[in-house]
Amino acid sequence: MSFDAFGSKATIVVFGASGDLAKKKTFPALFGLFREGHLSSDVKIIGYARSHLEEEDFKKRISANFKNGTTEQVSAFLSKTSYIAGPYDTDEGYHRLLASIEEYESEHKLTAPERLFYLALPPSVFTTVASQLKKLLYTEKGKVRIIVEKPFGHDLESSRKLQKDLAPLFTEEELYRIDHYLGKEMVKNLLVLRFGNEFFNGTWNKNHIKSIQISFKEAFGTEGRGGYFDSIGIVRDVMQNHLLQVLTLLTMDRPVSFDPEAVRDEKVKILKAFEPIDHDDLILGQYTKSEDGSKPSYLDDDTVPKNSKCVTYAALGLQIHNERWEGVPIVMRAGKALDESKVEVRIQFKPVAKGMFKEIQRNELVIRIQPNEAIYLKINSKVPGISTETSLTDLDLTYSTRYSKDFWIPEAYEALIRDCYLGNHSNFVRDDELDVSWKLFTPLLEFIESDKSPQPELYPYGSKGPKALRQYLQKHDYVFA
Ligand code: NDP
Ligand code: BG6
Repeated sequence: MSFDAFGSKATIVVFGASGDLAKKKTFPALFGLFREGHLSSDVKIIGYARSHLEEEDFKKRISANFKNGTTEQVSAFLSKTSYIAGPYDTDEGYHRLLASIEEYESEHKLTAPERLFYLALPPSVFTTVASQLKKLLYTEKGKVRIIVEKPFGHDLESSRKLQKDLAPLFTEEELYRIDHYLGKEMVKNLLVLRFGNEFFNGTWNKNHIKSIQISFKEAFGTEGRGGYFDSIGIVRDVMQNHLLQVLTLLTMDRPVSFDPEAVRDEKVKILKAFEPIDHDDLILGQYTKSEDGSKPSYLDDDTVPKNSKCVTYAALGLQIHNERWEGVPIVMRAGKALDESKVEVRIQFKPVAKGMFKEIQRNELVIRIQPNEAIYLKINSKVPGISTETSLTDLDLTYSTRYSKDFWIPEAYEALIRDCYLGNHSNFVRDDELDVSWKLFTPLLEFIESDKSPQPELYPYGSKGPKALRQYLQKHDYVFA
């Protein structure tokens, strides 16, 4: 497969360069790519934001999060990087930005310039910056790519408005919508695992699979971000986007190739086969103080309204109506302030016929996305030795023990920026995909945010979540070993 890759001389501009995402993810990812030789030493990188930062302070700020680089690598990277302060809504700063870009392009005699613009900005300024970009920094002669960050709207209507505002400015080819879960190693492995192994390929359907579960757990709360989180909630924060992407890759049909459009066509197709989410089949929760009192409750955050019903935990039941999945229960659950940080998929297979076995457990495939990527399959095996008993054991592919420590697994943002650089859209969200995902989740969000929704069940910070969960999973055909 060949993509329309950027060459060795390109300009990357990060808007919102003074912000949190730029500091924690975007610049460290650019550095990681540079360190690993995936970003040419001829590249030019510019940070742009309104804050008047001294260039040295800006460089100190972004390099504080660089990982695994030598001092030489860090200074080589920083020598390619500069900072320009300017407004988002008037032309003046963009003129200075353009002058800096054109100086570099003429120095290198680039007749077909390549420009990558990364919008690490709050959604309130997306459209303003995108319009200014189009007006002042766009070039017809070369290639322009724009990376935009979630949230892509707040619901179906606002998402459509955002797409409508961006569509006249940039083509779908030029837009790269990041969902960073699509850059995670194990998520990128899902299609290979499913379609590259007949053992899974042949059994990946209602005839063999009894239930599917996707779970996202974070061991920390919204400390300090409560004000932001209160209008978002866990469903919008990670379920409508990150977890739905994982579920889509788990359930879609085989694409004809790894071509980005082939993959995304299948994703859209499966999303259209989901049944509307049942409002009566939910667990909604909000965390309270930890049992020992050392960790605050969600409502202890001063930026959160005292009577907030914001959901920090949710479990949803999903159903897909197609030949492959009819009748297979799917549970998606996510929560903050739980007992551990872990994201995993659990697929339970149907039990074998009893007859020769009195008690036999189900096969279960676990795909651990993080931490410590792993795929393991629980199988029944005879207890070794003279025993005739059967026990459940694991076929285990844990990356940290199977692959050498020197093996470079890119961080999600590294993988995605590299894909954008290569012109590969496979791991970015297409407009129609976004539309269907909002169609599925908007009615649920409206219900949760209405007076009709129940009071969220309280669970202590650091616990496993709402008490109702165990029974809920059993109801959805998950059997605890
Ligand atoms: P910030 O709030 O840190 O904003 C980034 C920069 O944008 C700020 O440094 C500021 O720069 C400028 N800015 C902030 N508010 C406004 C405003 N109201 N009007 C104009 N400019 C403003 O955001 P993040 O860096 O955290 O996030 C950027 C985007 O990435 C958001 O869309 C966010 O949802 C998304 N995201 C962030 C993640 C994270 O880990 N932080 C994770 C996933 C997605 P200045 O004032 O100097 O111009
Ligand atoms: C972000 C959410 O999109 O994803 C955060 O806004 C969440 O609330 C984060 O913590 C999880 O990402 P990761 O990569 O840490 O699992």
